[in-house]
Amino acid sequence: MRFSIYEKTGFGFLAAAWLVWAVDFAGDTLVQAEPLKKAVFTAQKAAKTTTKAAPAAKADPAAAAKAASGVMAMLAAADAAAGEKTFKKCKACHSTDKGGKNLVGPNLWDIVGKAKAAGEGFKYSDALKGLGGAWSYQDMDAFLANPKTFAKGTKMSFNGLAKPTDRAAVIAYLRSLSDQPKPLP
Ligand code: HEC
Repeated sequence: MRFSIYEKTGFGFLAAAWLVWAVDFAGDTLVQAEPLKKAVFTAQKAAKTTTKAAPAAKADPAAAAKAASGVMAMLAAADAAAGEKTFKKCKACHSTDKGGKNLVGPNLWDIVGKAKAAGEGFKYSDALKGLGGAWSYQDMDAFLANPKTFAKGTKMSFNGLAKPTDRAAVIAYLRSLSDQPKPLP
């Protein structure tokens, strides 16, 4: 069988057209597959990050605030005398008597309800000065649970009181260091 020059050219075009289509198709498939793989990978990574991030939430101020509600409920029945004992951990740095000296940390007389970072003659860190507001029971609880989380950059080198009962007792004790203890929450 012999093809005329026109027929040969026709086949040639057809073949060329098919080739272009085939390459285009393959190209599309490959190009589409790539971002898909990437998306799946990113999603997996995101899933891993979320699982990893979950335990870190424990140190979160929001989580501390949640824990605070427990301490708030405990405060009314909290034992200030037990708190005074636990306060031994704080004594190296804090005096508690009215008009007492600042030590490594500021004097803590009448601290509950007092403006933060307002102890006379004490040089506070920018972290503590930046907090603003007064020492509410909630803030005191969050600070004592984890000083460095509540006031990132604080110079109070203390890991915190992990046990809510300890915090409730210490806060009850701090509250008692006043001529007019603040009303309980
Ligand atoms: C190693 C010394 C140290 C220990 C231990 C320590 N503190 Fe402090 N505390 C500091 C310092 C320093 C500051 C000032 C922090 C700043 O400026 O960042 C501070 C600040 C505070 C403040 C804020 C006072 C204000 O005027 O705003 C409170 C409340 C407080 N401490 C309570 C406690 C309690 C309660 C304990 C024990 C459970 C304790 N601290 C243990 C050193 C200490």
